[in-house]
Amino acid sequence: MTNPLRDPRDRRLPRIAGPCSLVIFGVTGDLARRKLMPAIYDLANRGLLPPGFALVGFARREFATQDFAQVVHDAVREHARTPFNEDTWQQLAAGIRYVMGDLGDPAAFAALNQTVSQLDAELGTGGNHAFYLSIPPGKFPTVVEQLKASGLSQQGADAWRRVVVEKPFGHDLASAQELNRTLGEVFPTGSVFRIDHYLGKETVQNILALRFANAMFEPVWNSNFVDHVQITMAEDIGIGGRAGYYDGIGAARDVIQNHLLQLLALTAMEEPISFDATHVRFEKEKILQAVVLPEDLAASTARGQYAGGWQGGELVSGYLEESGVDPASTTETYAAVKLLVDTRRWAGVPFYLRTGKRLARRVTEIAVVFKRAPHLPFAATDTRELGNNALVIRVQPDEGVTVRFGSKVPGTAMEVRDVSMDFGYGESFTETSPEAYERLILDVLLGDPPLFPRHEEVEQSWRILDPVLDFWAKSGTPQAYGAGTWGPATADAMLARDGRTWRRP
Ligand code: BG6
Repeated sequence: MTNPLRDPRDRRLPRIAGPCSLVIFGVTGDLARRKLMPAIYDLANRGLLPPGFALVGFARREFATQDFAQVVHDAVREHARTPFNEDTWQQLAAGIRYVMGDLGDPAAFAALNQTVSQLDAELGTGGNHAFYLSIPPGKFPTVVEQLKASGLSQQGADAWRRVVVEKPFGHDLASAQELNRTLGEVFPTGSVFRIDHYLGKETVQNILALRFANAMFEPVWNSNFVDHVQITMAEDIGIGGRAGYYDGIGAARDVIQNHLLQLLALTAMEEPISFDATHVRFEKEKILQAVVLPEDLAASTARGQYAGGWQGGELVSGYLEESGVDPASTTETYAAVKLLVDTRRWAGVPFYLRTGKRLARRVTEIAVVFKRAPHLPFAATDTRELGNNALVIRVQPDEGVTVRFGSKVPGTAMEVRDVSMDFGYGESFTETSPEAYERLILDVLLGDPPLFPRHEEVEQSWRILDPVLDFWAKSGTPQAYGAGTWGPATADAMLARDGRTWRRP
């Protein structure tokens, strides 16, 4: 019998990375400053990085190592989740290095090679190095080629080399396949880690716990009971300084192709045999393969672009006035799409996905909306304020789960009204949730793949989305919507045609 104290599947013990380095390309960028460096510090602060850990920055800017360490220090001070601790910082700082150079310059890669070899000798990083491409996807092939030519991608017998790529994984199916070929020519499949940071969020990982650790949800998680599912990722911010990335990409490619389809997959998939990467990814891929678009794309999709106006007491610019945006741009900042899942479990249950910038508030949630009770033994007036039962997974910012159901209003009449029952992370757990990037960076360093989408899932997502993007490219311009609203009227019309309404979370 297995000794439970020795069970290798026991994940309660802290998982600590072994000696290694993380090389970040594009280290002067926004993502590195706001998310990656703070997450590395937080991991160090939680004792999850080994003494032999190094952080190597690679960029074009001329920095001495101390200047770069100062950049990391400032980013940590400003954005880290855990308090600043001088000892942690000193230990991290001892492993910080910087390599200046152009992404296509063999000499810079030779210098990088020398730096990581020195780290192996001085800090004991053991030949284990991860390369994080926090750079525009157009540059991936150049860097991957240089990693190969310089020998940096070559792993030794007892050492590993890994590559980490950020979305977008291509801009359509064909380019995603091409990108995968490029990566595959240099790194074996198991060494490629694709980051979809939504999968690193605690509340997203909780979808599978909620569904498969409990007895009460799964029996009703199907077309017999579920009327439809709404997956919302609403943001109140505009595109900020990201026009260079966003214009020409738009809301559907930016988040539906990755975050929202991953949420759909976790919500709709069958129970995996185990939580091993192979089993979880297999079930996600299977469900994505079953996703189909309705025939009439005009009726089952909607897109919009935010106009200027007042939002939360602030006068904000419209998308077309944002600096760096083509004033004639037809890029959508709001996208909604209706999807069907062609399986026995989900036959006839629409999944409505929507996302947008400059909406009324920031909220990401998955609402499983149930059918009405088959019979209501009440007078019609008594249930006027009774909606459909719903189970809402609140991904952020108010993390938790809500169950909405009808309850009798106290009084002499049998009046029934919606009430809700809440679970909030803040009230139930004392620890705050780690940031998604903490979990994902740690998993890269540990070589633990379940939270990273496989190429096949990425392909399926593009297969689903490509026809919508083609259709939009040929069908006029996105409808304007006011900043601070819930999006364009066409999105409301899309649900109204099905006799439904969007939630106003
Ligand atoms: C990114 C998108 O993937 O997710 C951004 O590119 C978006 O446009 C961001 O703002 C939102 O992330 P989060 O974790 O704040 O929901």
